Amino acid sequence: MHHFQYREGELYWEDVPLARIAEEVGTPAYVYSYATLERHFRVFDSALNEGGPRKHLVCYSVKANSNLAVLRALVSFGAGVDTVSRGEIFRALKVGADPKKIVFSGVGKREDEIAYALEQGILAFNVESHGELEAIERVAARLGPKLKTKAPVSLRVNPDVDAETHPYISTGLKKNKFGIPVAWAREEFRAAAKMPHLEVVGLDCHIGSQLTKTAPFQDAIARLGELARTLVVDGHRLRYLDIGGGLGIPYNQEDPPSPAEYGEAIRAALAAFEGPELSGLTLICEPGRVIVGNAGVLVTRTLYLKQSEIKNFVIVDAAMNDLIRPAFYDSYHAIWPVVKRGGPAYAADVVGPICETGDFLARDRSLAHKPEEGELLAVLSAGAYGFTMSSNYNTRPRVAEVMVKGGEFAVVRRRETLDDLIRGEEIPKFVG
Ligand SMILES: Cc1ncc(COP(=O)(O)O)c(C=O)c1O
Repeated sequence: MHHFQYREGELYWEDVPLARIAEEVGTPAYVYSYATLERHFRVFDSALNEGGPRKHLVCYSVKANSNLAVLRALVSFGAGVDTVSRGEIFRALKVGADPKKIVFSGVGKREDEIAYALEQGILAFNVESHGELEAIERVAARLGPKLKTKAPVSLRVNPDVDAETHPYISTGLKKNKFGIPVAWAREEFRAAAKMPHLEVVGLDCHIGSQLTKTAPFQDAIARLGELARTLVVDGHRLRYLDIGGGLGIPYNQEDPPSPAEYGEAIRAALAAFEGPELSGLTLICEPGRVIVGNAGVLVTRTLYLKQSEIKNFVIVDAAMNDLIRPAFYDSYHAIWPVVKRGGPAYAADVVGPICETGDFLARDRSLAHKPEEGELLAVLSAGAYGFTMSSNYNTRPRVAEVMVKGGEFAVVRRRETLDDLIRGEEIPKFVG
């Protein structure tokens, strides 16, 4: 059941017309659908359940959308969380996430972040280098009796598989900064096992984002499974096999596997390693985009129509600071009128007010009709890596975030004010 649709020419999220939200909250605004979040989470979760007894934990990847209301909803559905900073762990705890369902990933964990995570008693660190192992050992030793258990570590390996996605979001290749080379993994596991304050609990990888095929996931699992077997023979007691996130969504013409197809592919790849040594492993997945991407839209208002000698421009009030994906990755986001008016399609670049040529939401796009000044547009598939990647560039306040549930809606992050923009800044005396 889709919750985003036109009803008599007006675009609705669940039972609320977007135009009403724009009128009450202003624009630009991100608008998320609770029912869509729930559907996406449950479909993904049950896709991993089907066809086998393997235990699993879905750790939603906070970086995709870290709004507290979104996190709270997902945690209430049973999600764990994948985090990459102290701030993300803080957010997860704020909404009542069970620390025993929090994993902590990322190549550059600072010691204060490690200490914070250890004090909270998280499920596992996904460790990306030898230096990080030593840092966790050092911090755990320092915290000593304050900790009830040893520091739980999974080692993230780099399986060197091509995720066949945009190079900026491909993470599982030898040339990427992520993970430990598979060839060095045994040595690092051995080193970790010797560190007195660490407990080796798992094996992890994440090969990239917006994957539209299952084969790279399967290739990665094949490499991980083989390594896991060797590690068990080496005497490590692995409890978790974390295969990261990465499942893509349709933005335009892409046809990514459904969660059911993904689940099936994962199971098939794991089946090759179903020996007694590995059957007790809990599978961890870290989906982000597939849960929230199509659960959010960015509503923006047309400010001006402008022509150059060769192009039409629709200038809107949302910009690259609000949604950087088109500028950063050249990503496609569909743009629909909030109220359909009919009329011939209109070819234009949809651009924001920022002083950069890269400030566009769409280029050479055929819009459903020629917008008028003041007309509302919805930028689709903006729930993931939208608000979380936004900034204050050009001293623009960050936009409001809204959540819809049924016929209700609420502002879940208010629009920033001018005072918010300068909070924390000081002019020292020597400046005058
Ligand atoms: C370690 C890790 N896990 C999970 C994710 C989530 O990826 P996606 O949103 O593509 O599912 C990312 C994204 O970069 C990541 O770096």
